[in-house]
Amino acid sequence: MSFDLVCIGLTTLDVVVRPIDALPEREQTILVDGIEIVPAGTACGAALVAGALGLKTAIAGAVGDDRKGRFLRAVLEEVGVATDLLETVAGSATSTTVLAVDSEGRRPAFHALGASFQYQITPAVLAAARQARAVHWGGVGSRNLDRGPGAELMAQAKSAGALTTCDLISPNKHALDELKRLLPHVDYFLPSAVEARMLSGQEELTAAAAFFRDLGAGACVIKNGAAGSILGLADRTATLPAHAIAPVDTTSCGDSYCAGFIAALLRGFDAIEAARFATTTAALVAQGLGTLGKLESFEATRAAMLTLPLQEAA
Ligand SMILES: Nc1ncnc2c1ncn2[C@@H]1O[C@H](COP(=O)(O)OP(=O)(O)OP(=O)(O)O)[C@@H](O)[C@H]1O
Ligand SMILES: [Mg+2]
Repeated sequence: MSFDLVCIGLTTLDVVVRPIDALPEREQTILVDGIEIVPAGTACGAALVAGALGLKTAIAGAVGDDRKGRFLRAVLEEVGVATDLLETVAGSATSTTVLAVDSEGRRPAFHALGASFQYQITPAVLAAARQARAVHWGGVGSRNLDRGPGAELMAQAKSAGALTTCDLISPNKHALDELKRLLPHVDYFLPSAVEARMLSGQEELTAAAAFFRDLGAGACVIKNGAAGSILGLADRTATLPAHAIAPVDTTSCGDSYCAGFIAALLRGFDAIEAARFATTTAALVAQGLGTLGKLESFEATRAAMLTLPLQEAA
């Protein structure tokens, strides 16, 4: 079977609670507005959103042989994301994060490492990546994917004609070495502003985008929270504002931006229009709890693109 999009790498379960402004005294119970339990992670969050946007999507990653893993798989399938390439690691727990979102939207988190970090590329994933219209890499920093296997997969996907994209999560000091291997095979690199500044050493985001293009990325799109995003394309740079919204929970905004961007490119939008669509996708996700937030469909997102107000340029 061939897919519009194969997302490969970090696969976690998020437990999102809002608001938590202080821990309860002793064993007191505090009522909260909402609790969401949802698949997330650089690869899996993007896959879930892409599925909701109507892309024929597969997730390639790993969960544990536990109830959380079965739940994660069931939610993906409910949204139409194929889970055949999702490995179950015996004797391991599903990687899980508890996010305590406060009234200001800050999100301190507790993470339990698990099966996701043991994921290894299989021949079936390589074959799926070679046949897909797009491949999204969310595996930087994973011990079995860095130092060769990830770059090799992306090289093969790109030479087979796939659109190739890459996002990061909490990059460590080795991430730059890995990006040097990966980026020559990546059409669009989509880091956050914090990640881009840290790895490039450039304060100015257009300079950071140029740094990653010099490492081989075809283009670099830097996500900058409520300040919007910066596009460093081969022939131009552009700054796009975010929407003026009252965010409920910005968890997975970055992952949903990537999914929206890919979905729009695959529908034939140019890069700037795709980034606008991505901005609206992320704004809908930010207005509800968890990975999908208030996102409904590609068409509803396109309609919201025209009606949701944008932030004034800084
Ligand atoms: N407070 C906000 N208001 C409006 N839009 C937002 C807000 N926060 C994020 N966004 C939108 O989401 C996009 C991606 O968010 P962000 O820059 O926080 O990504 P990220 O740091 O990669 O996130 P993640 O933590 O999910 O990895 C932004 O470019 C913007 O369009
Ligand atoms: Mg991110």
